[in-house]
Amino acid sequence: MQTLLNISNLCKNYRRSTGFFTSRQIIAFGPVNFTLERGKTLALMGKSGSGKSALIEAIAGITKPTFGEIYFKGRPLSTLSKKDRHKSIRMIFNDPIHSLNAKATIGTTLLLPLKLNTNLLAIEQKRQIKDVMKLVNLSSDYLNYYPNILSIYQLHQVAIARAMILNPEIIIADEVLATLDISLRFKIINLLLTIQEKRNISYIFISHNIKLARHLSDNIIVLNNGLIIKNTPV
Ligand SMILES: Nc1ncnc2c1ncn2[C@@H]1O[C@H](COP(=O)(O)OP(=O)(O)OP(=O)(O)O)[C@@H](O)[C@H]1O
Ligand SMILES: [Mg+2]
Repeated sequence: MQTLLNISNLCKNYRRSTGFFTSRQIIAFGPVNFTLERGKTLALMGKSGSGKSALIEAIAGITKPTFGEIYFKGRPLSTLSKKDRHKSIRMIFNDPIHSLNAKATIGTTLLLPLKLNTNLLAIEQKRQIKDVMKLVNLSSDYLNYYPNILSIYQLHQVAIARAMILNPEIIIADEVLATLDISLRFKIINLLLTIQEKRNISYIFISHNIKLARHLSDNIIVLNNGLIIKNTPV
């Protein structure tokens, strides 16, 4: 087993203004400590405002932690270049309908991260795009389509393809499944599990649904007021 992520004393504070000249510190989370192994899934649970989103935003590099460190394969994540970071950890956004560019074809949407983060030749880019479409069970015909003609499930397939296009080792998702009906939810979960089996990637996802968290994950972490109150194997 290989430890991909080691979260060490990680903490995030925000300043919130309380008046015209005054503000106070809000602890979004921390200090928290945990690890994530290769090929494993971690579910984050906890009440609203307990710090789940703030924590995964820090791990995904969307925000900077106030203190503490995130080690990726033993190396401080803060020392990785932006490109390497993007190739290691990717986020699936919880609303594929609005997070996909309506004016871009699926092919263009998948090409963009490759253009921005790799030096692949055009032929290699094409191959990687074809591979990722196969991985999410979408026909390559869809590469020429715009998001507006896709079903909700297909939009999720594209969102997962976009997260997978750089072959990351960790995928992070903030309540991607919360608004979906149960059959669609399980279809997406099964897709995510098949991808995990094929690529041996790790997932961190936020869920409010304990049944779903148990089904999908190897470990469940419960946050309360920004602190881990439980970290239990499933
Ligand atoms: N950008 C921000 N500026 C100020 N405070 C913030 C910011 N982001 C989060 N917080 C605060 O940090 C705390 C944790 O918020 P967070 O969004 O991580 O909770 P959560 O567990 O994801 O809740 P939910 O289940 O409702 O999504 C809250 O008190 C929140 O108000
Ligand atoms: Mg949240």
